[in-house]
Amino acid sequence: MGLFQRRIKNFYGLDVGNGAIKLVELRQDMRTSSVVLQRFLIRPTPADTVQNGTIKNPAELKGAIKELLREMGARSLKVATVLTGQNLIVRQIEVPRMPAEELKKVIHTQADHYFGIPAEDLAADFQVLRQLPQNRMQVLLVGSLKQPIVELVDLLQSCGLRATRVDIEPLAAMRSLRWTNAVASTVAEDATVILDIGAGTSNLSIFQGDELQLVRVIGVAGNDFTQAIAEGMQVSWQEAEGLKLRYGVDPNSPIFPSLRPPLERLLRQVSISLEFYQVENRSQCIRQMCVIGGGSQLAGLVAALSADVQELFTRLETEAPLVFAGNPCTYLATATNAQAAQDLGPTLAVAIGLALGEVVASATD
Ligand SMILES: Nc1ncnc2c1ncn2[C@@H]1O[C@H](COP(=O)(O)OP(=O)(O)OP(=O)(O)O)[C@@H](O)[C@H]1O
Ligand SMILES: [Mg+2]
Repeated sequence: MGLFQRRIKNFYGLDVGNGAIKLVELRQDMRTSSVVLQRFLIRPTPADTVQNGTIKNPAELKGAIKELLREMGARSLKVATVLTGQNLIVRQIEVPRMPAEELKKVIHTQADHYFGIPAEDLAADFQVLRQLPQNRMQVLLVGSLKQPIVELVDLLQSCGLRATRVDIEPLAAMRSLRWTNAVASTVAEDATVILDIGAGTSNLSIFQGDELQLVRVIGVAGNDFTQAIAEGMQVSWQEAEGLKLRYGVDPNSPIFPSLRPPLERLLRQVSISLEFYQVENRSQCIRQMCVIGGGSQLAGLVAALSADVQELFTRLETEAPLVFAGNPCTYLATATNAQAAQDLGPTLAVAIGLALGEVVASATD
C-alpha cells in the first residue's frame, strides 16, 4: 500500500429513471474494506424529461441533475450510471478462445448477425463466462442501441458528471442484492428472477446461478397505475399518486376498479415471461423472484405477484419460486438516516448496485 494512499474512498451511482433520479454515495474504508451507504438523494424526474432511457427535454433534466449535484455539495463527480427501459439484447455464444481485443473486433464485424443492429448503431459489451473444451469459450453478449447512451453520457458531462461506466440494469440490480445478501445465492442450475418495477417500465431479468439469461422490458409500471387512477377517479395526477400510496392493491378500496386493468396486465406479462423460461428450461428450477423498484412498494403488490406465480406453477406442476420484496438497505451499513434508507431501499437498489460496481472495479485496479 502506498504511503499516501487515501484511507477513505467515495463511489457514486446515478440512476436517472422515468419517475425519480437516484444518487447514491458509498464510502469505503480502505483499511478494513468495509462499505457504508454514506448519503443518498432521491428527487422526482421533471415530468416528460425522460421516457424509458430516452431524454426528451435535455435542458430541464440538466437543471434537475445540477440541482442534485448542488445538494450533494459537489461541482463534479465520477459516477456509474445506467440506462433503463431500453430493449437489451442478451445472448450467449460459443467462440474459439481469443484475447479480449480480438473478441471486440469479432463482435464489431458480426454486429448485425449477433444483435440485428449495424455496428455503427450498436453499444455492445461482453463477459467471458467459462472456458470450454477444444479451445473454445462461452461468452455473454449484451447489446443495445448506442444513441440513447451517448445522449445520456453527454448530458451528464454537461452537468459536471463523468460517467465512468454505463451499466445494464439487471447486472446493477443483481450486484446490489447479492452483495448485500438481500438475495441468496443458488446452486448454478437454479434460476433467480429480478423484477424491477419502476415508473415507466418493469424490467424482468432471469439469472441461472449468477449468469444473466433473459431480459424482458414490460411496459406496465407505476405511472400506469397512477394514470389509470387519475382517469378512473377523474382526479389530477398528484391526487392519483396520493390515492395510490394510500390504498395500494386493496380489492375493497375505491381505486381498485381503476387499478385492476394495469395490475392484471402486469401480472399477465410476468406470468408469460416465467412460463416461457420454465418451458424452455424444463430441467431448471426457478427458486426465487425478488421484486424491487419504487413501483414494487405499492402495498399488496408483492403478495398479488406471489399468488399469481403460485397459480402459474401449480398449473405447470412445478414447485413455485419464493416471491419477496428485495431491499439492499436491510443489510447495508448506513452512515445516517437508517430508517429512510430502509424505507427507500427498493427504489435505491439499482443506484446502490451501480456504486458497488465502482467499489469492485477499484479493488481490481
Ligand atoms: N409507497 C409506494 N406505493 C406505491 N407506489 C410507489 C411508492 N413509492 C414509490 N412508488 C412509485 O414508484 C415509481 C418510481 O419508482 P422508481 O424510482 O423505481 O422508478 P424509475 O426508476 O424512476 O422508473 P423507470 O425504472 O421506469 O425509469 C413511481 O411510479 C411511484 O409512484
Ligand atoms: Mg428504475
